[in-house]
Amino acid sequence: MDRFRIEGGVPLTGAVEVSGAKNSALPLLAATLLTDEPCVLRGVPALHDVSTMLKILEVLGVEVTREPGGVVRTQVRDPGSHRAPRELVKTMRASICVLGPLVGRRGEAEVSFPGGCVIGPRPVDLHLRGLEALGAEVRVEEGYIRVRAGRGGPDEREVYLGGPFGPTVTGTANVLSAAVLTPGTTVLQAAACEPEIADLARALVAMGARIEGIGSPTLVVEGVEALGGLDHQVIPDRIEAGTLLAAAAATGGDVLVRGADPKVLTAPLDLLARMGTRVERRPEGLRVRGGGGRPRPVDVVTLPYPGFPTDLQAQWMTLLALADGNSFVTEKIYPERFIHIAELQRMGARIRKEGPTAIVSGVERLSGCEVMASDLRASAALVVAGLAAEGTTLVERVYHIDRGYERIETKLEALGARIRREAA
Ligand code: EPZ
Repeated sequence: MDRFRIEGGVPLTGAVEVSGAKNSALPLLAATLLTDEPCVLRGVPALHDVSTMLKILEVLGVEVTREPGGVVRTQVRDPGSHRAPRELVKTMRASICVLGPLVGRRGEAEVSFPGGCVIGPRPVDLHLRGLEALGAEVRVEEGYIRVRAGRGGPDEREVYLGGPFGPTVTGTANVLSAAVLTPGTTVLQAAACEPEIADLARALVAMGARIEGIGSPTLVVEGVEALGGLDHQVIPDRIEAGTLLAAAAATGGDVLVRGADPKVLTAPLDLLARMGTRVERRPEGLRVRGGGGRPRPVDVVTLPYPGFPTDLQAQWMTLLALADGNSFVTEKIYPERFIHIAELQRMGARIRKEGPTAIVSGVERLSGCEVMASDLRASAALVVAGLAAEGTTLVERVYHIDRGYERIETKLEALGARIRREAA
């Protein structure tokens, strides 16, 4: 298992390009199951999770061709199979995104029930209730979710996608992807408003779907007979952009993050402003001008979009571990998503967890040491910590990072970071 060796204390400088959004590419790839026409997706990031999704599509009878520069071409060749096997689904929870398209296009689906992960329980009850609201019959047996599309039913139906922690993002993707080929009108209430869902909805409309309210919590879908092909550019990854902004701020650097879109980063940019980090808007992206001393402490609460994203919580905790005072970080989406605290404490961070809130007492500096990556975003937080720390940090098990960041060490090296990948 590879690890990163990082010599900290180097301010990052230069320009870096954001890759395509993982959490947009995955539902978009699944949505190619909805048509028999050829599809092209551009700007697909080269990630382990993307490779897993492509393997699942191939198992489902899709011919997949990858071209240089993030171009992926798909063509359904054999629509016979509707079963996504456990050996693939267990490696990536987002495999659940094939459920809706299979129900919508093939009338049935069999997807291994996705397990939990280190950030906490990952239920799918809202996905299943949403598909039932479309008239589908849903059974969970032998570790598989088995869904059969309904026949006929009311011309109009409402689907509520809100849960105790807010809307479900991939649940919205699943129900939307099934609804576009379900006869009649479907109103999705409390739909997720994440930019990745809007990107998916725009792609579906380009394929011939009829969707109103894109970007809002209420999506009105008029089912159509069939969808055409697709040629679509994946939006930039706002979470990778936020991670790179945090790395620049943590090292007091001067970095232009190309492709960072301020319109989808309002909450993180608001916090950076409060922390005293200068961020300038440029035509090609966002420029962080660090070096103004330690960050000021701020309170962070993760919320559904457009609130502060849970996927940047760990990276911001690293920043706040160096702040000049105490900060409170509260997780409202995944209350257990604090596995990075123990590793940051090894580096000298002073953090105390009180239920869904972590109290972060900033310190002057972190000290490099061996740390263990655990989940995708916690691992990114440890890389940011290593870049800012004094001395050498070894981040073990970086396969977690490879799931969601495209060649992060190459990008950071180009910014002057002393980081290299080693076979452990
Ligand atoms: C998506 O996961 C993202 N993944 C996650 O990013 C992200 O953390 C999450 O949304 C929240 O923003 C992808 O888009 C592939 P949810 P998803 O369904 O859709 C509860 C990353 O690092 N819930 O929006 O699985 C759930 O427990 C990943 O890139 C139910 O109660 O998340 C959670 O508390 C990690 N019932 C909240 O809702 C359900 O049926 C949000 O979950 C579904 C979810």
